Amino acid sequence: MTDTNQYKQIKRVTTHVLQEMKQRGEKISMLTAYDFTFAKILDDSMIDMILVGDSASNVMAGHTTTLPITLEQMIYHTASVTRAVTRALVVADMPFGSYQGNSKEALNSAIRLMKEAAAHAVKMEGGMEIIDSVKRVLSAGVPVMGHLGLTPQSIYKFGTFEVRAKEELEAKKLIEDAHLLEEAGCFAIVLEKIPAKLATQVATELTIPIIGIGAGGGVDGQVLVLHDLLGLTKEFNPRFLRRYMNLYDDIKTNVQRYIEDVKLKDFPNDKEQY
Ligand code: KIV
Repeated sequence: MTDTNQYKQIKRVTTHVLQEMKQRGEKISMLTAYDFTFAKILDDSMIDMILVGDSASNVMAGHTTTLPITLEQMIYHTASVTRAVTRALVVADMPFGSYQGNSKEALNSAIRLMKEAAAHAVKMEGGMEIIDSVKRVLSAGVPVMGHLGLTPQSIYKFGTFEVRAKEELEAKKLIEDAHLLEEAGCFAIVLEKIPAKLATQVATELTIPIIGIGAGGGVDGQVLVLHDLLGLTKEFNPRFLRRYMNLYDDIKTNVQRYIEDVKLKDFPNDKEQY
C-alpha cells in the first residue's frame, strides 16, 4: 500500500505542484469525471487531476465517438465537476470543432470553460496543426494540456483505434509535436495508446509532465476513464485497462434484488414507511 500522507499535505494541486511532482519522480494520478457525485469521491480520494473528458460523449451520452459532444455540454459537465472539487486540478476537454483551425474561436471556447464552468485548465488534441490555437489560449493565461498519439477526435482520419506511432515517421512527428507543445507553454501532455518505449523517450526529453493512457509505465503519470476502471462499462477491453471493480454486474444484481422485493411486496416493510 502506498503511503498517501504526502499527497494529503497538498492543499490544492496546481500546474506548479505537478511540475514539482515530475521533478521529484512522484507519479501523477488522473481520472475522468463528468458529474458532481463521482468528482467528489475522486477529490476526497486525493486524486491529483480530474479530466472532464469528451469521453463523456461515449460514457454519458452513448455516442460511438467523441465528435458529437458540444461546448455547451462540456460546460455543463465541467461545472458539475468543479462544484465538487476543492483539491484536484480540473482539466476540461475542448470538444471537437471548438478550437481547430480558428484560434479566436479556440480562445472563446477556452474562456467559456474557465468562466462559466470554473475549469482550471483545458486540453486540446493535436500538435503542429493546432499550435496557433494553443498559443492564443495560453496567451490569455489559460493553462493548456496537450494530447498526442491516439487522438479520438481524429478517429475518422485514423480509421481505427489501434496503437499509434508504431512507424518511424509517425513517431518522429509525435516527438516533434511534443517539443512544440512544450515550447509553446503547455503544462503537461497526454500520450494515448503509443509504444511504451516512445512514451518513455518523450517523458525523458521533456521537462513538463507526460500523462499516459496505454503508454506504459515510463511516463510521469497515468489517466484512465473512471467508468472503465470501475467496470461500469463492459464492451471496452483494451490491454492497457486495469479494472478494479465489476460494478456493472454488482449494480445489476442489486437492482434485480430491488425489483424482486417490490414485486414480492417485501419493500417497503413496516419500518420503511410513515
Ligand atoms: O476524453 C477522455 O477521456 C480522454 C482520455 C482518454 C485521456 O481524453
